[in-house]
Amino acid sequence: MSGALEVCETVAAFRAACDALRVEDRKLGFVPTMGALHRGHLALVAEARRRAPNVAVSIFVNPTQFGPNEDFARYPRPLERDLELCREAGVRLVFTPSPAEMYPAGERTRVHVSDLTDVLEGPFRPGHFDGVASVVTKLFAASGPVVAVFGRKDYQQLAVVRRMTADLLLPVEVVGFPTVRDPDGLALSSRNVYLSSDERARALAVPRGLARAVALHRGGERHAGALRRAVLELVEPAATRIDYVAVADADDLTPVPDAERVGERALLALAIFVGKTRLIDNVVFSEDNPPVTP
Ligand code: PAJ
Repeated sequence: MSGALEVCETVAAFRAACDALRVEDRKLGFVPTMGALHRGHLALVAEARRRAPNVAVSIFVNPTQFGPNEDFARYPRPLERDLELCREAGVRLVFTPSPAEMYPAGERTRVHVSDLTDVLEGPFRPGHFDGVASVVTKLFAASGPVVAVFGRKDYQQLAVVRRMTADLLLPVEVVGFPTVRDPDGLALSSRNVYLSSDERARALAVPRGLARAVALHRGGERHAGALRRAVLELVEPAATRIDYVAVADADDLTPVPDAERVGERALLALAIFVGKTRLIDNVVFSEDNPPVTP
């Protein structure tokens, strides 16, 4: 029996509902999202349900993590459909706060995680991770103790949330979950709806490039520059603009210069534009399978 779905719009109601789902020391799973749910989000819900008898989802398009030229206003918000998907997935509680509820009048506080936020996405999305760290801290403050599941598709976000949770002594177990992809390898994203069919075809250069790098690494290639260039060769012709294709330490995210060798477990992460849509993706060598058969 999974029980009915409760929807809360206020912090007070969400906090009380979380407490109620935790009675008798039962764990509560939690999947924070911005909605426009897809199979990737639902896989996080399924993972949370494996780890806890009850699962809560938050749906909040967080204004503070969007830059002034980003897609906050046009970000998809199909709430009724999202609630139906949550119901089907056995979610017990959905938190749909307003911006005023999450950012009380007169608010003056942000959470900043240093160093981890200076690399990869950092320079291209100034303030983004302050917005993410702040809202996730607030969500955890509202939920109380939870097992929170995050996708490795947003690898740097997961690293930031892990660090912040440890540093702030938050009573939360953070779990990372592998990237869910379409059969052709494209990582699922709420932003994929922006892609025209031509752009979607071009976007496949991303999983192909990453697959090529994984194959090279498995074949013994350890030069960061060679791994990076293998991806760039495929991605450059398809991209409208490349923000970065980077090799980095999988734990502290420090970039590995082209001339250096990567360790066994290294991260290859990228961000590109196809048309007006920004896509991010990554693989961890020695951990992830190639996103497609190369
Ligand atoms: P959103 O982009 O909606 O993603 C919610 C969660 O789903 C994140 O943990 C993200 O990594 C995960 N996710 C997205 N696509 C995925 C895929 N293809 N496979 C596996 N997991 C995937 O990330 C956010 O929202 C926000 O920044 C948030 C953490 C909610 C803070 O506002």
